[in-house]
Amino acid sequence: MNFAGILAGGKGTRMGKTDLPKQFLTLGEKPIIIHTIEQFLISPVIEAIVVAVPENWISYTQDIVEKYCPDEKIHIIAGGLERNDTIMNICHYIQKNLHAEKEDIVVTHDAVRPFVTQRIIMENCELCEEFDATDTVIPATDTIVESKNGQTITNIPLRNQMYQGQTPQSFKIQDFIDIYHSLSEEEKNILTDAAKVYILKNKKVGLVMGESYNMKVTTKYDLKLANLMLNNLKDKEE
Ligand code: CTP
Repeated sequence: MNFAGILAGGKGTRMGKTDLPKQFLTLGEKPIIIHTIEQFLISPVIEAIVVAVPENWISYTQDIVEKYCPDEKIHIIAGGLERNDTIMNICHYIQKNLHAEKEDIVVTHDAVRPFVTQRIIMENCELCEEFDATDTVIPATDTIVESKNGQTITNIPLRNQMYQGQTPQSFKIQDFIDIYHSLSEEEKNILTDAAKVYILKNKKVGLVMGESYNMKVTTKYDLKLANLMLNNLKDKEE
């Protein structure tokens, strides 16, 4: 079985001052997070969806889900302090309350990437059977420059070997819990995302090709861009 884990436990500080955390801001006619949940709701390969939000936004999230897309498949829980803590909360919830079995998969996705496609979700599930985990990426278009001190260049890796990470990232639920528990505190501190957990442990992470428009809404500029893209997609449908 495949489950979806929607990561919405962040504060959205880079969005600047707003009334609501960025995942609840309006995109088109509804909150960003609702667009994202809807993509997983219509996916034929997803059994249930666990949405993790800051604890004090649980009842707000329940209200908007009830308003826009009520469905028994949706479970709303509290996220964690760091992104990987949010993933752990989702994994534990699925294990305990949705009775996941050893091989069951969770497709984790940023709530603020509302343009995820059905193909990307499907390929995450398929590839996760083959590898230990999956990461969704797009080829880097700009040259990536490494600087360890922020002042001079230390390396310029070959561009055709560079990719930009997106989400979803997918893995077996029990496997992620076991691996995460095996990490030292130091290792946990340097981990920014789930794929890195697998790389640190020399596991195989398969690549799913994302889309340039599977963008993450991080800043106010991104939100403007996302609104333009949404209108453009609507025009194409009409
Ligand atoms: N996220 C989460 N739990 C956390 C931190 C982040 O579920 N403890 C989620 C965010 O809600 C977001 C996704 O991870 O959907 C991607 O993270 P990012 O864009 O960095 O979101 P924020 O941490 O909210 O943003 P900022 O870094 O600007 O504060």
